[in-house]
Amino acid sequence: MRVFEANITHQVSDYLNDNLKNVVSIEKANQKMYEAFGFIHFFDNDEDLQILKETISISQNIVSEPDRAEYGDFQTNTELANKVAFHLTTKNISPKIVIEPTCGKGNFIIASLKHFDNVKKVFGIEIYKPYVWESKFNIIDFYLNNPTENKPEISIIHSSVFDFDFKTISKENSTKGILIIGNPPWVTNSKLGSLNSSNLPKKANFKNHNGLDAMTGKSNFDIAEYITLMMIEVFQHQKGNIALLVKNSVIKNIVFDQNNNKHHIADIEKYSIDSKKEFNVSVEASLFYCKLNTEPEFECAEFSIYTTNELRTIRRTNRRNEERKSNRFGWLSDKFVSNIDNYSNAEQIDGKCPFEWRQGIKHDCSSIMELDKVNGHFVNGLKEEIKLESDLVYGILKSSDLKNTVIKETRKHTIVTQKKVGQETNYIKYDYPKTYQYLSEHQDVFNARKSSIYNNKPPFSIFGVGDYSFKPYKVAISGLYKTFHFTLVLPQNEKPVMLDDTCYMLGFDKLEFAVYSLILLNSETTMQFLKSITFADAKRTFTKDVLMRIDLLELAQTIDKSELQNELNYINETYNFNLTLDLWCDFINEMKPIESGQMELFA
Ligand SMILES: C[S@@+](CC[C@H](N)C(=O)[O-])C[C@H]1O[C@@H](n2cnc3c(N)ncnc32)[C@H](O)[C@@H]1O
Repeated sequence: MRVFEANITHQVSDYLNDNLKNVVSIEKANQKMYEAFGFIHFFDNDEDLQILKETISISQNIVSEPDRAEYGDFQTNTELANKVAFHLTTKNISPKIVIEPTCGKGNFIIASLKHFDNVKKVFGIEIYKPYVWESKFNIIDFYLNNPTENKPEISIIHSSVFDFDFKTISKENSTKGILIIGNPPWVTNSKLGSLNSSNLPKKANFKNHNGLDAMTGKSNFDIAEYITLMMIEVFQHQKGNIALLVKNSVIKNIVFDQNNNKHHIADIEKYSIDSKKEFNVSVEASLFYCKLNTEPEFECAEFSIYTTNELRTIRRTNRRNEERKSNRFGWLSDKFVSNIDNYSNAEQIDGKCPFEWRQGIKHDCSSIMELDKVNGHFVNGLKEEIKLESDLVYGILKSSDLKNTVIKETRKHTIVTQKKVGQETNYIKYDYPKTYQYLSEHQDVFNARKSSIYNNKPPFSIFGVGDYSFKPYKVAISGLYKTFHFTLVLPQNEKPVMLDDTCYMLGFDKLEFAVYSLILLNSETTMQFLKSITFADAKRTFTKDVLMRIDLLELAQTIDKSELQNELNYINETYNFNLTLDLWCDFINEMKPIESGQMELFA
């Protein structure tokens, strides 16, 4: 049955019908609801009282739920809400004030009423009116089934969390222990943009990103991150705790930004949840927990919510001395790392790579630009057999191709229309007429590319291209896969092989330099290092920022020479090379910064 589009159980409907049918004034009705359940302003106006009375006297059919994508609406099930609240009790948390910033149907409020005995006030805020009602009905249902449970004052408020005045709650209750509990909306500002939704904080660019970041997606943020930070900012000087279900990326960002923000939070913990099981979505999410009103801390311990009982044996007070079962990520002085304990094994190579890591070619036009070779002919993604001059056609590798240690041949080919970004493409018409005709015939597919980076660029433009793309020898890694393995890419038919934009690479003119780099990058030290600074749940495990942190010079100067020789022997035998370490010193010199003063000699 539904009232105000909110689900209501028969028990609650019968109760309200029996107790309110003869009540005419809103004051009397609100008084009754306060005395029975502690609700402050159960009804906002007379009209709501009248509608409720009329509707519960006649039963209704269930109608389908509206589309609520813009509200990031994933209601937490009772079992999970109870698990979270119970876990907090094992940490001896017993709040006086409970705040659920986006309370939905109220499951975290009910879990809090059930598990915390000393609560004096509850505040639930929710933007969607039917859920405001449903929370109220669910709370009544809880008390009808558990009449002896503690009854604090309860305010369920119909408001956007972005308009609600949390500072007043903080001021009025500054000496009381507070718990902020819940599950803020799972939706990003860019998704809201595509839905034309205004469900955003007024200060949408709260991280002060610039226009370029907006174009590349860097300024995209989850509104749950904004809400969590809003709660931290308001309540950080008050005794209490925060326990919110959020995406893992939100927790990572909060810990990352803690270096600048220095919020008064500590004992930061992340308890992973199985989102498929709990919410039927494929998003990596966890419970974010922290203690308020403390000296700022900059690291987060990771656990699973399903094995929290084990944690009771681990006492936080002594945590640096005690053996902890968890992984810890966060800041170690000025370095942000994904595994604080592993990091110490490889921190000596955390620096700056002397060579520049580059992302592969981006064209966003795979049906036209990606070609297979079938019986000596090129075939595009539209299954058209095409004839082209061979000059602009190069072999290309994608992330899924980078499985082996050495690659000599490619499955796919691509047309490289420019030698550097923005280069005029008119020359193709005169030098390569067949290629030009083919590209022109598909101009519409190029024109349909969505990304604004192609606006006002020459026809058939590509990105991620430069001198480095044409280096004959490359060492590459997939940005998407979690395989900590680098691949040597050799030229094909005496032409350099390209990588696509899911891959990162270093380019070399000398095979020796490429092989030396390959050995260093596939060494145990590099693997340990990368494992301690990459996040398993990141969209891209490896990014340019991550790879640029590998100090190849330091690694080259400290690697055991016999290990180096053994690896080189293995590569020579396996791939039929005949390489020596004769160029090792040149390689080291190539990586050394040019000493200042050298330029002056030539001035
Ligand atoms: C992920 S659901 C979680 C609901 C509830 N906290 C729970 O754990 O079951 C997010 C809730 O936030 C509400 N919401 C979305 N935008 C909001 C806003 N601006 N202000 C308040 N609530 C909002 C949605 O209607 C939805 O009920």
